[in-house]
Amino acid sequence: MKPSKKFKIAVIPGDGIGKPVIEQGIMVLERIGDNYGISFDWEFFGWSCQYYSENDIMMPADGLNAISSHDAIYLGAVGFPGVPDHVSLWGLLIPLRRAFQQYACIRPVRLFEGISSPLANVRPEDIDFVIVRENNEGEYSEIGGRIFQGTENEIVSQQTLFSKKGVDRILKYAFEMASKRTGKVTSATKSNGIMHTMPFWDERFALMSKEYPNVITNQFHIDILTAHFVQHPDWFDVVVGSNLFGDILSDLGPAIAGTIGIAASANINPEGNFPSMFEPVHGSAPDITGQGIANPIGAIWAAALMIQHLGYQEAHNDIMDAIERVVRSSNGKTRDMGGNANTKMCADAIISEL
Ligand code: NAI
Ligand code: MG
Repeated sequence: MKPSKKFKIAVIPGDGIGKPVIEQGIMVLERIGDNYGISFDWEFFGWSCQYYSENDIMMPADGLNAISSHDAIYLGAVGFPGVPDHVSLWGLLIPLRRAFQQYACIRPVRLFEGISSPLANVRPEDIDFVIVRENNEGEYSEIGGRIFQGTENEIVSQQTLFSKKGVDRILKYAFEMASKRTGKVTSATKSNGIMHTMPFWDERFALMSKEYPNVITNQFHIDILTAHFVQHPDWFDVVVGSNLFGDILSDLGPAIAGTIGIAASANINPEGNFPSMFEPVHGSAPDITGQGIANPIGAIWAAALMIQHLGYQEAHNDIMDAIERVVRSSNGKTRDMGGNANTKMCADAIISEL
């Protein structure tokens, strides 16, 4: 056991099911903290679409400053009917990811025993890979505009930006991760149709691969890659993609692994100059908000990624083992996993395994 350590965590539960799942994730971290001599100072921030409806902004002007020296950020989900999704994304999530240079978005995908995949004849060992998504630039840029609005001549343009520095650092992150796993990286590209940025991405990928002679590489255009995710999920170990491609693949990944309710995401600032941010992949799920049935596992897995990032690999493994045991058994599974437990029962089952 390491000596006692205290971490200061900025908690942004957000909207809808973000709040109850984060509450359960915190209970799990408190429990694992007891086992490892870790304690937490949770500081809550109410930034959300609800905050927006009262203040016309998603977070206060000095919001980023207020959390820039925390050890990590734990986020639920933002988004609510009535507030356009680009407001919640560009008013909160994207500023956080960019200001804190969380350029590596890591999304592990695993099929757990006890959860059925929509794919026929796949076993848990067939689906176990990590999506590494570029999280700071690429297709998600605010450069562009519209002219001649509302006329027949209306023109819209949106600029994609790939920097050498930005592409290289995410590729390096993926190769480093692959060297610690089974040693295989797949690159998502579209260098046939997208004639400037994607050939550049391929070129940087080929150069980076020379620095990692022990890592096996391959690449697929994004269209056939989505088909391979469905038909041959066992081909993949680390999959690296641009902001847009990584985003698409990281919803497809959890879908083939059964439910988006269990998927977790880490927005990492690898240099450690700023806090990294941990969140479930799912959104605020307005369709089930207030029913107490949201699956807390995505938030709990995100909590495991957070404790791993803070230096406690074994604590991470303990949480993952507890999740595995609960989804393997018939008790403690929420409806989206084929059970009838509510949010709290599911989290309690995981906590009692710890
Ligand atoms: P969503 O992930 O909120 O929901 C999609 C479907 O999955 C819904 O039927 C929902 O009930 C179900 N679902 C999601 N999480 C679940 C869980 N933990 N347990 C059980 N079922 C679960 O995505 P949707 O409906 O596209 O977006 C809803 C709102 O969330 C929008 O405003 C969107 O912008 C926002 N959103 C926010 C994200 C974030 O904060 N990172 C990510 C994705 C969406
Ligand atoms: Mg997405």
